[in-house]
Amino acid sequence: MARGERRRRAAPPAEGARTVERAARGGPGRRDGRGGGTRGAVRGATMAAVVLVLAVALALSGRWMVAWHRAQRAVTLHSAPPALSPDSSSPAVAPDLFWGTYRPHVYFGMKTRSPKPLLTGLMWAQQGATSGTPKLRHTCEQGDGVGPYGWEFHDGLSFGRQHIQDGALRLTTEFVKRPGGQHGGDWSWRVTIEPQASGTPAFPLVSLFFYVVTDGQEVLLPEAGPKGQLKFISGHSNDLGDFRFSLLPPTSPGDTAPKYGSYNVFWSSNPGLPLLTDMVKSRLNSWFQHRPPGASPERYLGLPGSLKWEDRGPSGQGQGQGQFLIQQVTLKVPFSVEFVFESGSARTGRNQALGQLAGSLLTQALENHAKAFQEHFEKIFQLKEKGLTPEELTLGQVALSGLLGGIGYFYGQSLVLPDMGVEGSEQKVDPALFPPVPLFSGVPSRSFFPRGFLWDEGFHQLVVQRWDPRLTREAVGHWLGLLNADGWIGREQILGDEARARVPPEFLVQRAAHANPPTLLLPVEHMLEGGDPVDLAFLRRAFPRLHAWFSWLHQSQAGPVPLSYRWRGRDPALPTLLNPKTLPSGLDDYPRASHPSTTERHLDLRCWIALGARVLSQLAERLGEAEAAAELSPLAASLEAQDTLDELHWAPELGVFADFGNHTKAVQLKPRPPHGLVRVVGRPPPRLQYVDVLGYVTLFPFLLRLLDPNSPRLGPLLDVLGDSRHLWSPFGLRSLAASSSFYGQRNSEHDPPYWRGAVWLNVNYLALGALHHYGHLAGPFQTQAAKLYSELRANVVGNVRRQYQATGFLWEQYSDRDGRGMGCRPFHGWTSLVLLIMAEEY
Ligand SMILES: *[C@@H]1O[C@H](CO)[C@@H](O)[C@H](O)[C@H]1NC(C)=O
Repeated sequence: MARGERRRRAAPPAEGARTVERAARGGPGRRDGRGGGTRGAVRGATMAAVVLVLAVALALSGRWMVAWHRAQRAVTLHSAPPALSPDSSSPAVAPDLFWGTYRPHVYFGMKTRSPKPLLTGLMWAQQGATSGTPKLRHTCEQGDGVGPYGWEFHDGLSFGRQHIQDGALRLTTEFVKRPGGQHGGDWSWRVTIEPQASGTPAFPLVSLFFYVVTDGQEVLLPEAGPKGQLKFISGHSNDLGDFRFSLLPPTSPGDTAPKYGSYNVFWSSNPGLPLLTDMVKSRLNSWFQHRPPGASPERYLGLPGSLKWEDRGPSGQGQGQGQFLIQQVTLKVPFSVEFVFESGSARTGRNQALGQLAGSLLTQALENHAKAFQEHFEKIFQLKEKGLTPEELTLGQVALSGLLGGIGYFYGQSLVLPDMGVEGSEQKVDPALFPPVPLFSGVPSRSFFPRGFLWDEGFHQLVVQRWDPRLTREAVGHWLGLLNADGWIGREQILGDEARARVPPEFLVQRAAHANPPTLLLPVEHMLEGGDPVDLAFLRRAFPRLHAWFSWLHQSQAGPVPLSYRWRGRDPALPTLLNPKTLPSGLDDYPRASHPSTTERHLDLRCWIALGARVLSQLAERLGEAEAAAELSPLAASLEAQDTLDELHWAPELGVFADFGNHTKAVQLKPRPPHGLVRVVGRPPPRLQYVDVLGYVTLFPFLLRLLDPNSPRLGPLLDVLGDSRHLWSPFGLRSLAASSSFYGQRNSEHDPPYWRGAVWLNVNYLALGALHHYGHLAGPFQTQAAKLYSELRANVVGNVRRQYQATGFLWEQYSDRDGRGMGCRPFHGWTSLVLLIMAEEY
């Protein structure tokens, strides 16, 4: 993914914004215009009736037709049958997954798995702030001072409990779902606010804001009570039938006696999801009195008091845009409030007899689910049985819960730059809009990357599938639904207004010529090994898409010689870059050949494709897809053959496997006023050779277990891995050898190091899996592998645990110098693999 771009994302240039706006407005239309131009040229030539001109025009139009056709295919969905049935997310087919915390970028909220969802959420603010307006909390942000926060439990299905620290406040947000009826059933929330430290002298006044948003499909009918308090909100939609929300009177935590609260309400047309926070802020401008009986009154900022429809949109559009209804309740900490959603069709059935899911019934349901979570957790991962400590057990539960609680449901259109067949030529065409598609996926980070990333998702699902294989089928099926007519999947999925609002325009566009590691094949391989009939039935439906995806990868990224591969889309050799980046590889600034060229051969990509061929050919054989097996098996065999790997990637002068390309070591960034840092190339000049960089890429044939246990190549790789001058650190394997001249180097004045030394959990997981594998197979390196395995596992687990205890977060990466968590947080994407490392599940 282009995650290395995060630091540059602060200041999007205006030009990029205009390009994207143009594309967003006129993307598909532009293609028509192009076609029209072609026809115009042909007509003109015909009228002139000059044979020569006609011939030229025909030749040109042929080229244009090819270009038009390519552009068209880039934004056309693949024709293979879907891996999931089109209504698989509907409440009729999957009622238990219909509602969920599928808005990972808000601290707390739920929505339905629908292209036109009903959304709910929570905002809060501490009143009586020292100065100015209170800080309104809503979306997860890196720099808002909230934290640590995260799910203590989340089962990915029907229950979760989250803790959030906000200054002097400690929030607990819990939800539980109850099946029933035909529309996804009921659910209830409980939000509890307590002082962070006991014995706090003055209990602060806090406002909670519960909101419901629709996009025009649903009807909401709030029933006003006294003084800004809603009795309930009833409503109706096609997906949900009749439903009703109720905000129950606040109580003291763990108590049923009501506590006095002050109420405010606001109701308007939906301003657009990215604007909800601002709209509430702008309406929080009147002073009210919180006056509990027998206590002195206190001022607070509140929403306009009474229920009055306010239409902010252009006149007449309010109805079409949907509604935004928000209820504010203000009172003294500590307290609990419950917010209950009842489905009409569930109410008429069993759930009526059960009573409203609130109060002691809710407490009981939450307790039962927490217990069930812990039992299921131990059954699956057996951390207690394997002798892990209580702290490690907590870390494992938090890692899993954060990952499951990060699963989102997105719907919308990507912007795609077509692959025009000639490298670099796609710069000359405009991006076009991909068809609207749904995506059910985990996210790397709720605060910083709250959307789908292709190569991250393969790692996420390795964890998820052990917990609930059905969620993985759902996620993989959705990702395969994004396949275009060529077999390409965009590596970053920015779908819908909320996702788009968080990405600067120049990073919105996905390039249909660029690949990303096919890590989804890792959970697919695990399904294949497990042999669960439901998984196999899924793989049978998914096979044509998996095959098309792999074929595209294998063909489109072919290298200069047979069985070599090259990542398309390296950055150009700009004078400001130390080493042009390779974002499609996922390893962003990991050093490659110093001078990008078409003669390059990338070791990691070849290994990913070898893995793909292996998984696909095994799958084809298992499913009895004879034709595909006949095509894939020989390819897999050639890619796994040691001699071709040696021939293309073994660098005798370096004694390891390596990339190959036009390269010199003699590059440096030097200050050149007034241009800032500029790359200076010294002697010797670049020439075609193996790239002398030791790091994660060096290890790939080992990481993906492509080497025979008796291979003499295994020894040198284990030596590099286990040597503290190179990859070994007390906190895990570093991405780039400490001995490398690129180690810890910035790539440009504005681009600090990313994959240049830091410890990353995804690759450490692969390395541990490989060490475990070779440590269990007879061979000359078995003992060495087994020893490195237990030491590396202890280092990685120990450091992630210490950092979690010190900061309350899992992190994007860890420093190889002092183990400190770095990058964004919380990062419950692939850092959650620490759970599988503890459970020794590879
Ligand atoms: C390597 O790069 C240099 C500098 O761009 C260029 O002059 C040279 O022709 C390249 N060599 C090859 C073999 O591509």
